[in-house]
Amino acid sequence: MSKYNYPNTIPFYKFLSKASSIAKNPIPFHNKWFNEAGDTFSIKSPFYGYIVLTRDADITKHMLQKNHKAYNKSKIQTTYLSKYVGYGLLTSSGDYWLKQRRLIQPAFHKEKIRNLVSIINKAIETQVNAIETKKEAVDLYSLMNELAFEVVAKSLFNFSAEEDTLKRLQFIIEKLQLFIIKELRLPYKKLWYSLKGEIRYHMKLVKESRAIINNIVEKRRVSKENHDDLLDMLLHAQYENGSTMTNDQLIDEILILFVAGHETTANALTFTLKLLAKNKVILNKVEEEVKHVNSQNLSPLQQISKLNYTKCCIEESLRLYPPAWITDRVNIVDDKIKEYNLKKGTILGASIYELHRNKKYWDNPDDFKPERFFEDNRKQIMPYYMPFGAGPRLCIGNNFAMYEMILAVKSIVEKFDITSNSDAIKINPLITLKPVDVKINFTLKES
Ligand code: HEM
Repeated sequence: MSKYNYPNTIPFYKFLSKASSIAKNPIPFHNKWFNEAGDTFSIKSPFYGYIVLTRDADITKHMLQKNHKAYNKSKIQTTYLSKYVGYGLLTSSGDYWLKQRRLIQPAFHKEKIRNLVSIINKAIETQVNAIETKKEAVDLYSLMNELAFEVVAKSLFNFSAEEDTLKRLQFIIEKLQLFIIKELRLPYKKLWYSLKGEIRYHMKLVKESRAIINNIVEKRRVSKENHDDLLDMLLHAQYENGSTMTNDQLIDEILILFVAGHETTANALTFTLKLLAKNKVILNKVEEEVKHVNSQNLSPLQQISKLNYTKCCIEESLRLYPPAWITDRVNIVDDKIKEYNLKKGTILGASIYELHRNKKYWDNPDDFKPERFFEDNRKQIMPYYMPFGAGPRLCIGNNFAMYEMILAVKSIVEKFDITSNSDAIKINPLITLKPVDVKINFTLKES
């Protein structure tokens, strides 16, 4: 008898017969199989061996936190991504990752992020002021995407990059992200992409983006000016032996901050504003809270601490629509989780989307109820809530993202009435969970 045993197995033919629909949107299949086979099930693939999928909080925490030393990230998050966006925090592993995490972590401590709040707020205000009020509804995601890119760009480089340069960088990063998805979704077309010159074209873009960032870094090194932005912090961060990062390391980390920090936040802001636009009673409460805070002459940082209901709305939106909707790991040694004995090399996927809607943990999980996150209720739900991951690889930008989103929602609802004429929320689970076709009407508020 084998010493290994796996959770309930879905026959591979069931997977194969639906492969193209699953590639388009795996969430309904995950949901069906979780309901049929239990909160953790497996598929035995002739190519990859056992793949385990879970929406169980204990198993998710086991692999991300409790026994994280037995797990590495899969190739999707490391090898494939790093080809285009470099070898930074998100894509590195092992000792190098730990060394970099220790070096960079202080720049993201709450205290340090507080210094960045005025830069973040200014970037948000510029973007919100540029929203044009039109009769017809506008595409919300593209507005939020611009906003989130600007916030990361300004937090990194404050005044040291020309707008045209940043626009070009944005263009390249978005092109690369789209191509990564194309390659991951249709891996059998790799040869075709190569023959068509697509891979060469995108590798040229990689080179160009690295040259742009190198230029900014070099100028900053020479100028010796102080900008109090993330670039300053990264430039001065010291390893234990007193040395600092090389330009190549800086470029890797900066590219990763752009990639990890802008699309996720843009998705979350889009979902949050859409949820608010379709839930008028909740939106009114946010508007009241914002009005109250605005009447007090507070700094942006003080405002954040008073916008508690707004924060609960964002947290609830991250529960329903977690941008990082799935995360995966591979065990590097044999491991026992609950009653399962997993062979080294098993791929484990934790569906954060399903975990956040698991009836075992949440009452009426599909309802938008920000009060779940009120102080008195938090203790009960937090063990099942992981929009920023868990364990040592927890999102380094979680405080940054929350500050940014609170200020962005505030800035938008104080200026505009937002309405949406459809209730449905459509999703597209790519590397991140993307909102589809969210149209919002912005009308200037009467003052
Ligand atoms: C709503 C916004 C965001 C969400 C939902 C989010 C979610 C996540 C999650 C779930 C992970 C862990 C992935 C895993 O363990 O497999 C992660 C990692 C990471 N995030 Fe975020 N993130 C957000 C915003 C940001 C921002 C604004 C930044 C930076 C400015 C950022 C930078 C990073 C980095 C560098 C990592 C890799 C950390 C490491 O492995 O050490 N993220 N993020």
